[in-house]
Amino acid sequence: MDYASFYQQSIDDKASFWKEQSRLLKWDTQPQIAFVENKHGGTDWFPDGKLNMCDLCLDTHVLSGHGLDIAIIYDSPVTGVIEKITYKALLDQVSKFAAGLRNLGIGHGDTVIIYMPMIPQAVVAMLACARIGAIHSVVFGGFAPHELAMRIDDAKPKIIISASYGIEQDQKIHYKRLVDVALKEAKHKTLYQIYYRRQDNDDAISSRFELDFESLMHCGSVGARALPATHPLYILYTSGTTGTPKGVVRDTGGYATALAFSMKYIYNVKQGDVYWAASDIGWVVGHSFMVYAPLLCGCTTIIYEGKPVRTPDAGAFWRVIEQHKVSTLFTAPTAIRAIKKEDHEAALLAKYDISSLRQLFLAGERCDPATFEWISEKLNRPVIDHWWQTESGWPMLGIMTGVESLAPRSGAAGFPVCGYNIAVLNEEGVPVKQGDEGYIAVKLPLPPGCLPQLWNNDYRFRKGYLEKFPGYYLTGDSGFVDKDGYYFIMGRIDDVINVSGHRLSAGEMEELVASRPAVAECAVMGIADELRGQRPLALIVLKDGVLADEGDIEAALVQLVRDKIGAVAFFKSAAIVSRLPKTRSGKILRKTMRAIADGSEFKVPSTIDDPSILDEIADVLKRRKLGMAFQ
Ligand code: COA
Ligand code: AMP
Repeated sequence: MDYASFYQQSIDDKASFWKEQSRLLKWDTQPQIAFVENKHGGTDWFPDGKLNMCDLCLDTHVLSGHGLDIAIIYDSPVTGVIEKITYKALLDQVSKFAAGLRNLGIGHGDTVIIYMPMIPQAVVAMLACARIGAIHSVVFGGFAPHELAMRIDDAKPKIIISASYGIEQDQKIHYKRLVDVALKEAKHKTLYQIYYRRQDNDDAISSRFELDFESLMHCGSVGARALPATHPLYILYTSGTTGTPKGVVRDTGGYATALAFSMKYIYNVKQGDVYWAASDIGWVVGHSFMVYAPLLCGCTTIIYEGKPVRTPDAGAFWRVIEQHKVSTLFTAPTAIRAIKKEDHEAALLAKYDISSLRQLFLAGERCDPATFEWISEKLNRPVIDHWWQTESGWPMLGIMTGVESLAPRSGAAGFPVCGYNIAVLNEEGVPVKQGDEGYIAVKLPLPPGCLPQLWNNDYRFRKGYLEKFPGYYLTGDSGFVDKDGYYFIMGRIDDVINVSGHRLSAGEMEELVASRPAVAECAVMGIADELRGQRPLALIVLKDGVLADEGDIEAALVQLVRDKIGAVAFFKSAAIVSRLPKTRSGKILRKTMRAIADGSEFKVPSTIDDPSILDEIADVLKRRKLGMAFQ
């Protein structure tokens, strides 16, 4: 089979193509209808089908004689624990925990927030929700209580499942205390909080609304409930341009089809393979390729509670590959840059036998050519940058290695994946010439697995994704196609910034910075960073008459963003300027300021109000050594 004709089939006859692919799954009721438009403006896939994601991930394998295969390897260099959990044992834990949830009154359609570190109990909680039709919403553990509170108020969960602590750089992150703070801030009241206690002397369970995770394991066990394919499996919040995150809804049947399809045709993995997505359960990569896809396909997945470096060194990934015979690794380019920085000659890599590794997939941010070339040479295996986002739930561009092993190209994210009819459009919605950069959009309907709606927010769904180019989904990224058809994704067109593969809102940081009494106005933008891809920079204008020390203001703002969003935002720099560059109509020229900091070429916009301010900004950045241009 060749990629071009397989891809074309998926575009020419979407309905038959995906109905055929849906047969990769065991359905309780096989769907007859491929897709219909839903009332939110999105697409519902397989509306008459019924299935249960947990059943597909666990029961199916146990029933087919694979119960003693390893489902999860929990490898935790921060605690020194390595634990292997079979499919049978995982099914047992999940069925019991699901019964415990049901005993608390949690059932079909109820929402549950999961705020946990990288431990197997997080996966147990997710699958238990899926088993009984509760909708989970996992919140990344690196987010501060304010972020958790916003998600509690939007998702309105009946319960929160958390843990006593996580471990970051030898320090305990006390999740229970963070949940307490978030619950004080949130308006919505939950019924119960459930904590997995990692040690006997952990923070005490202090009220009758706080329960021990283990105590839920004694309520019998519960079977998987067949659910409509359109039933929401989860809500995953992601950053947009405003301070309020948007809840991406994921269905069950379309998602399961897309994941089974990805494992076969994109990643080319089979039952029994050890597949490792070194991400976090709080991100979409964690949901799709650490939890659901590998389990759906009967692979072994790795829950790694550590970093690519410092746990204990830059050989950590290679150690895991050797020890657990990983065949496919998926990580973010930032992780590779961190390894490259500490072990440039790959001396640590040479210490390990990584012969099991067939390929490396990268996503989360663009893989810069220098990193691509370094890791390709050191691994001497295919390195595949592929592109997707929380909204899609699975790759949109990449190399479909299970179809045809086309050569990856440095700096490119590959070719459109089956089902994605991708266009590069200009401002008027007309396709640009080959080689020109434009808005990346996907012709509707989106394939299975993609978001059918935003949680309780049709207005934002239509406005943010569907209105700019009627008939297309706007991805928020820009890019171009080269003469051979490779797509290059070059960056965001909005105020979303990408720090270490973490998607964050510059707009939210701007709202926080602007909330300080001394600040008259400000701009926060993502500037280039050698390790993290991007980092935030705030330029601030003080109110008239305010005489404040730049260092003091910066320290206060750094603390504010840490407290409200979290340390992962890596907000470290704020500089005072006399005014911000604007167009005559008052629009702040963030792109121009970013180009000055990055040292990239730019044209002074003809609409600029006062060009002389650009020189002042360059001087301030130079004095403060902020931005790659001034390092
Ligand atoms: N919970 C709490 N805090 C967290 C956290 C978590 N899950 N993850 C990160 N943090 C904190 C860190 O402790 C650090 O705090 P500090 O400012 O007090 O030192 C801060 O957030 C920044 O963390 P990080 O960006 O992870 O920096 P680092 O120096 O610890 O590690 C890398 C650098 C490159 C090794 C790390 O960013 C990394 O592994 N990146 C790859 C990320 C990835 O896989 N993204 C893919 C998403 S698909
Ligand atoms: P998230 O929703 O957190 O997965 O972030 C998605 C965003 O990350 C995309 O819209 C892109 O801006 C960026 N991104 C992810 N993968 C890639 C990639 N391979 N190349 C370029 N950008 C990427």
